[in-house]
Amino acid sequence: MTMRAEKVFKPGAYPTYTYVSRHYEDTDISYELRLKQALRTAGCLTSIIGPSKMGKTILCEKVIGLDNIVEISGADFNENTDFWATVAAKVELPYMGEITTERFSKTEEITDRDGKNEKYVLSKDKIIEYYIQHNKVLVIDDFHYASPEMQIKIAQQLKDAIRRELKVIVVSLPHRSDDAIRQNADLSGRLSLITIDTWKEEDLKKIALMGFEKLNINITDAVAEKLAVECLTSPQLMQYICLSICTLLEDENKQEVTDEILEKAYKFTTVNFSYADVVNTMGKGPNQRGQQRKMYETIDGKLLDMYGLIVESLAKNPPLTEISFETFYSRIIQLIKLSANEKNPEKSIVKEHLRKLQNVLEAKEEIYRAIEWKDGKVYVLDPLFLFYLRWGRKNG
Ligand SMILES: Nc1ncnc2c1ncn2[C@@H]1O[C@H](COP(=O)(O)OP(=O)(O)OP(=O)(O)O)[C@@H](O)[C@H]1O
Ligand SMILES: [Mg+2]
Repeated sequence: MTMRAEKVFKPGAYPTYTYVSRHYEDTDISYELRLKQALRTAGCLTSIIGPSKMGKTILCEKVIGLDNIVEISGADFNENTDFWATVAAKVELPYMGEITTERFSKTEEITDRDGKNEKYVLSKDKIIEYYIQHNKVLVIDDFHYASPEMQIKIAQQLKDAIRRELKVIVVSLPHRSDDAIRQNADLSGRLSLITIDTWKEEDLKKIALMGFEKLNINITDAVAEKLAVECLTSPQLMQYICLSICTLLEDENKQEVTDEILEKAYKFTTVNFSYADVVNTMGKGPNQRGQQRKMYETIDGKLLDMYGLIVESLAKNPPLTEISFETFYSRIIQLIKLSANEKNPEKSIVKEHLRKLQNVLEAKEEIYRAIEWKDGKVYVLDPLFLFYLRWGRKNG
């Protein structure tokens, strides 16, 4: 019996049948081996940093195994959370510190501080002992979700805990405050740093090739290649698109992955993503305050201002997550249909609009920071956003 597609392609969970192992940086060793090595180094804390949805959590699950991994999210901690109480609760251990606080009234708690601390230390030892005996690895995922104060508190607890050989991994996004770990003088010399790169096309292709083979569906190398380009460094997007292809093939009772199916699958996949507001905000740019904006006629008959042109340029072929200004500018010029006496916009005008757009996006919530204009380049920070831009809009 062949497998069901949803068991093979798993955009939101552990991909048992389509797990791809990648090389660590420019070495011959795999990410899995690198993480194993880090975990074996007694007395060290492992810090994993990598962009969103690049497989940080999945890597931990692969190497540690679901039976031994204890996952805590940075979001589980607020100012009142006791670190060890949380660590204990995750493995269903009773935590003495908790009982002590309940038994004492507020004043007693203060006067009895020494006694309380003693019990506290005792129970912390027990928890660490339990983790070591049962081969548990503590993974503090999405560390950036904990408040800066809490991050410092956690780092202090970890410093002591790793000395006692508790195995801990802290997972975080780049450019985010994991400084409490990486810049912490107390931890220097006690860190194993692992940086997760964005995905290369050849590795992304493997997800599709492995998965479709498992499902007895033939796809050509050329199709896998097209998919890899379209999913823009994101293994998650690859899993999504492949699952969409399977759903469409089943629905239409077909076996062959044609260009037509591909295009349908891309559009179908965007239904999962909600970037309409982000696209609108980008297209509008900053508030105008009554000023008339210069409008440009495009080669496909639309009338757009510079912000509209910027959005259209992002969506052009080939999909890129890093676009030099020269490339970006030439995309814009190619979009514009000049009338008789009209001239192309100056480069400085385009740059100024990119700068203003950057300000608009920076002032808004996280999801709006899908692109960034920096050091003479336009960066697409969120691959899913660019994919949506290319395939999710009605006329896109
Ligand atoms: N090694 C892999 N092989 C195949 N698919 C993968 C692999 N790693 C990740 N994926 C796909 O990408 C999805 C996202 O991976 P994961 O949740 O590990 O990312 P993350 O980096 O932890 O993201 P976040 O920053 O949001 O926590 C997975 O659910 C899976 O579909
Ligand atoms: Mg994760």
